[in-house]
Amino acid sequence: MLVAVTRRIHKEELERLGEVAEVRLWDSDLPPSPSELQELVSGADGVLSLLTDKIDGAILDGSPGIKVVSNFAVGFDNINVPACTERGVAVCTTPDVLTETTAEFAMALIFSVARQIVPGERAARGGEWKTWYPMRFLGRDLAGATLGVVGLGRIGSHLATMASAFGMEVVYFDPRNEDSRFEKVDLDELWARSDIISLHVPLTDQTRGLVGGDTLPQMKPDAILINTSRGPVIDTDALVESLRSGHLAGVGLDVTDPEPLPQDHPLYTFDRVTIAPHIASATHITRRKMAQLSVDNVIAVLTGTTPPNCLNPEVL
Ligand code: GLV
Repeated sequence: MLVAVTRRIHKEELERLGEVAEVRLWDSDLPPSPSELQELVSGADGVLSLLTDKIDGAILDGSPGIKVVSNFAVGFDNINVPACTERGVAVCTTPDVLTETTAEFAMALIFSVARQIVPGERAARGGEWKTWYPMRFLGRDLAGATLGVVGLGRIGSHLATMASAFGMEVVYFDPRNEDSRFEKVDLDELWARSDIISLHVPLTDQTRGLVGGDTLPQMKPDAILINTSRGPVIDTDALVESLRSGHLAGVGLDVTDPEPLPQDHPLYTFDRVTIAPHIASATHITRRKMAQLSVDNVIAVLTGTTPPNCLNPEVL
């Protein structure tokens, strides 16, 4: 059996995979190009992919022996799941192990943006810290502020729990999940009432551009917008326009569209925007657990047992 692994991940997990299959590793910190990916997976029985690898019908048709695509991520918008299902290919992901870690990072962005930690640090480092300023770097208190959580799944729900411990009032929008600890509202009300808005939805046709030219003006002029989900959930051009007009007090983005965000992108010109390079799940323990789970998923499918997390179990 042959498993293609599209990036260097934890050595111990690659060794564990190596006990059941030959491992063909893309031994780099940067992703393979589409043609390199096609070559990497050719003849493979399984693929351990990253969220930067586009896995579609064409890739699968080029390597018809593939039985499992195991994504090292909870998100799976890089994978055409119906195309996999049609071809009998199992799609597996790594939920749960990153829930708290990702929610903590969203909370960290909320604190950071609300209290201007990055602009303050930039100023200190740049020699602008000349005295104690009574009127500079003024932020927003979280206690008493309203947090609007868009998507009360695992991550959104953990964020909501943390936020209420900090004295925030939490409102949420979620067509599927209910939690009586928080107030369920429709989206229009969420945009209008929230002082801080945090996005926790998967990227789908319904959520692409959810925050855009129609919705941004509905937010309070001094609202803070946080995104740790997927970049295209926000229409980037509309966000830049909105920031140029002076709207929004701050924005914290762990995900952008495009990704990586080019060095000359206008979003970098706003001091009130904090950008992180998609690191919300990046702790030692969580990334190790993600490696473990993605390897468990591949091994299970290839050895005919039930994988811990499969999106399309009907193909098993
Ligand atoms: C990270 O963005 C993930 O989906 O796991």
